Amino acid sequence: MDGADLAYLRTADGAAAVAVADRLALADDTLLADVGVVRGIAGRHAGAVIEQVRARRRAHVKLGDVDGWLLTDEAVQQATPTAVAEHRARRLAWLSVHDVTCSIGAELRALVQVCPRVVGSDLDPVRARMAAHNVPRALVYVADALTPTSSADVVIADPARRADGRRIVDPEQCSPALSALHAAYAGRSLAVKTAPGIDHAGLRRTGFGGEVEIVSLDGGVREACLWSGPVAVPGLTRATVLRGSGRGGYEVFSTDPHEVEPEPAGKYLVEPDGAVIRAGLVRHYAARHGLWQLDPHIAYLSGDAVPAGERGFEILEEMRYSEKGLRAELRARDVGAVEILTRGAGVDPDALRKRLRLQGSQSMTVVITRIGRQVMAYLTCPTR
Ligand SMILES: C[S@@+](CC[C@H](N)C(=O)[O-])C[C@H]1O[C@@H](n2cnc3c(N)ncnc32)[C@H](O)[C@@H]1O
Repeated sequence: MDGADLAYLRTADGAAAVAVADRLALADDTLLADVGVVRGIAGRHAGAVIEQVRARRRAHVKLGDVDGWLLTDEAVQQATPTAVAEHRARRLAWLSVHDVTCSIGAELRALVQVCPRVVGSDLDPVRARMAAHNVPRALVYVADALTPTSSADVVIADPARRADGRRIVDPEQCSPALSALHAAYAGRSLAVKTAPGIDHAGLRRTGFGGEVEIVSLDGGVREACLWSGPVAVPGLTRATVLRGSGRGGYEVFSTDPHEVEPEPAGKYLVEPDGAVIRAGLVRHYAARHGLWQLDPHIAYLSGDAVPAGERGFEILEEMRYSEKGLRAELRARDVGAVEILTRGAGVDPDALRKRLRLQGSQSMTVVITRIGRQVMAYLTCPTR
């Protein structure tokens, strides 16, 4: 999409063309005819009109109501989910904030709800114009994030993490790079969103003294946010578990008690949320809920009760793992459908499921994990 497309989309004619296109299916089998209809109204801007409609439809789950927004497909893919943006904004309430990689404004929308002054900027002029249209309460302009252009209390940055269709994990390969952002905003409050798989322990070893926040939404780990400057709690690692419903979320901190010793399995197995695991706070979570580890290096926990709101697995049978023994046990129990969860056991669940060739009428979850040197299998019934 170019500047001329964008200018057209912002006119009354453009908005009308989008409204017409939105009444079309735009499905694979209707696309040819639908493009013809849109071309009749929007001429050379037909592609941009169709992209708007498709991007808005796709954006709905991630961004909620984007009626009237101007978007591109790629920008929607890169955008911060609304629940995560709102979580970050709540922490910054009452502060002035500058989002220096604002793209189409997904974070700006959350920030203007709670912050008195919100500035957005992006290197891409089309995206910056979209953000200005989408979030009129923010001041938006084109700027390089590496040149400070405001005196906002807090700067947030979400560097582009894709190149040639690949996802980048190393924050130094992102645009802009993490070290360049830290240099540009040294001493100021800065939040940099990075890939959830970032090696945050390695980052600490190379001198990062700020706060690491690993955020998950509805069970999927979405990002690692690196906080530095006055807004950060130095040295803290935090796991933030968000639920789209807004209920049942929680945080775990590296400063929480975490004295737990490995013990044999109790009544249930519990797998902590991915944010807790990635943050390295499994023992902290266990201590909070009276759970214990089966092995100090494995994230599965056990206990006599499952924490409220979490999925646990009631243990029906515990056995030393062998494929032959597991197959015999599952067949004896008339199991046909099996969910296989595994950690540290070197087992490929999909390949194992195929090889087991089960045909029974019951379903079961099998947890296969290493405890010390022994690989164990737990036949379980999920609590939900
Ligand atoms: C992952 S997107 C940001 C998404 C945004 N947080 C949201 O929720 O919509 C990254 C953005 O950084 C912008 N960008 C890349 N390098 C930049 C730079 N040096 N200065 C400013 N923006 C830059 C890209 O144009 C892109 O819009």
